[in-house]
Amino acid sequence: MLYLIGNWKMAPEKGTQAADLVKKTNDMAKLYKKNITTIICPPSIFLASVVKTAKAPLLVGAQGVAGSVEVAQTGKISAGMLKDSGAQYVIVGHSEMRARGDSNTDVQEQITRLFEKKLIPIVCVGEKAHDAQGWYLSEVKEQLETAFGNLTPLQAKKMLIAYEPVWAIGAKAQRAATPLECREMTIFICKFLTDKYGEKVAKAIPVLYGGSADEFNAKSFVTEGGAQGFLVGRVSLDAKRFNSLAKSISA
Ligand code: PGA
Repeated sequence: MLYLIGNWKMAPEKGTQAADLVKKTNDMAKLYKKNITTIICPPSIFLASVVKTAKAPLLVGAQGVAGSVEVAQTGKISAGMLKDSGAQYVIVGHSEMRARGDSNTDVQEQITRLFEKKLIPIVCVGEKAHDAQGWYLSEVKEQLETAFGNLTPLQAKKMLIAYEPVWAIGAKAQRAATPLECREMTIFICKFLTDKYGEKVAKAIPVLYGGSADEFNAKSFVTEGGAQGFLVGRVSLDAKRFNSLAKSISA
């Protein structure tokens, strides 16, 4: 089973557009449900309405969560609120959140809050720059070590990991990673998980790719890159292209 996660980020602007996008993505999710689990992560303001509109097999997640339950956090959203809105998954550790100040320890605390409310974390890891000597591996290792630090094998098995090299994400991306670069990291992550939890648990944790994934490059990330799915930004906002991406990996 492959995972296709749409990270809508701060879009679309209107609730009517969000409703339209849910319907179209829902049709897509039905079409490819045999091989692909589709999850959409809208902005929190649309979460409740998206949950209402979304029908099986489409699943709904959220973007980010507060790391502490302290009420005095203007602008933050708690795991309890996300649960109450009907979210099942939550993206944490995204580089755009890390750039706004989320540290590895913050991500660890957020994961703890999510498990307290039986929400599934989609944890993003990825290096800021890709040096020829491979020092970026230690950056990703540190992210993994803190994210999984306190987790039992039973919790770890529920997680999803998205490898998202920062330099490959969004409109300012230099380029997408190559399938080979993705392959190196899926192996690295797999080794980390195997060392920590053993092969059986490691095999249960899907490692996705994210960063300029589209309908043209997706297939090779699966066949050559070892990706078990995608965390998709821009393309997930264009129902036609998102559908083409799903189609390309479903066969
Ligand atoms: P992108 O974003 O697909 O627009 O590069 C991916 C992400 O940030 O998750």
